Amino acid sequence: MLVGGKGTRLRPLTISAPKPMLPVAGVPVTEHQVGRAREAGVTRIILGTSYQAEVFSDYFGSGEEFGVELDYVVEDVPLGTGGAIRNVADALESGPDDPVIIFNGDVLTGLDIAGIVQAWRDADADVAIYLTRVQDPRAFGLVPTDADGNVTAFLEKPQTPEEIVTDQINAGCYVFRRSLIDEIPNERPVSVERETFPGLLARGAKVIGYVDDCYWLDLGTPLAFVQGSADLVRGVAPSPAVPGPTGEALVLADAEIASDATVTGGSVVGRGSHISSGAVLASSVLFDEAVIGEGAHIERSVIGRGAYIGAGAVVRGAVVGDGARVEAGNELLDGVRVFPNQTIAPGSIRFSSDQS
Ligand code: GDD
Ligand code: MG
Repeated sequence: MLVGGKGTRLRPLTISAPKPMLPVAGVPVTEHQVGRAREAGVTRIILGTSYQAEVFSDYFGSGEEFGVELDYVVEDVPLGTGGAIRNVADALESGPDDPVIIFNGDVLTGLDIAGIVQAWRDADADVAIYLTRVQDPRAFGLVPTDADGNVTAFLEKPQTPEEIVTDQINAGCYVFRRSLIDEIPNERPVSVERETFPGLLARGAKVIGYVDDCYWLDLGTPLAFVQGSADLVRGVAPSPAVPGPTGEALVLADAEIASDATVTGGSVVGRGSHISSGAVLASSVLFDEAVIGEGAHIERSVIGRGAYIGAGAVVRGAVVGDGARVEAGNELLDGVRVFPNQTIAPGSIRFSSDQS
């Protein structure tokens, strides 16, 4: 599992934790992935870490508690996605022709993991790439295939309209023949998307696409993050690791919610959080120990650990960092990010016409 990225697009949440360790539906993204891999029969997982590497080992330890054997390989300097794959080679126990499954660490999916391995075997492929279809493929790796399912090109984050040749994208999971991993250059950054895949295609390796139209979401942006969390809570995204029954809300231990507050849309109420009278929380994520004041309205937003939202404040499509204070009467709309421990003074940001 590739979990070494910085998660820049999710700042300020990723200042205190790496993206794959951010809680979605109450537990780290990686824990959902580990749970699904375990269900598919995977017994040993290596985490390729870099940014804040110790956060992973502190949480997952030997993996015993999570039903798998976990090992960690740390990059002192980030080696990129291909370099990270090469870097774990010494920790692999697989033989040269065995399959090795690689997962991007920020993807929620219902992928049939055993199915993609079987497809790789059936085709006697070098690599199988999990593909999905999206409306707007520009933020991803475009992967056209021929009539037999062979990958014909790999176009990472196309820059020109001419490059947009398909709506099939790399969904962030691969099956590699182990010997190919050993061939990736060592000790320098390599992008699997920009260097390894185009290189394999150029030399005629057999790279197949495995199209699966099941649930899929890259959690790399704040809106996707709240969407993914809500989908897990409501049972739309499959995961054995959601810590509670699926439904409109996931309320974690020691949270307090006033009887006339409304919590809906797959929201998560973190451990020890407090939601005051008349407040509304819709499709949002409250990290642990957050406090929501009376009548505040939170929608499609992430409220960081120990953050405080004052009475009557409106927070829509925004991210409030750990320990920040949004005092009473503020209105934060789409795209706003409040940095950790920052204070927004009472009534200083408002958008409603009746307040201007
Ligand atoms: N160990 C390590 N070292 N991991 C890394 C590094 C690194 O230097 N750089 C990135 N990663 C990890 C990230 O933590 C993440 O889990 C994964 O690799 C992918 O990186 P992102 O930064 O999330 O890439 P992206 O979302 O822009 O694009 C990738 O994913 C798309 C699907 O979600 C590409 O693989 C695209 O082709 C793909 O469509
Ligand atoms: Mg991503």
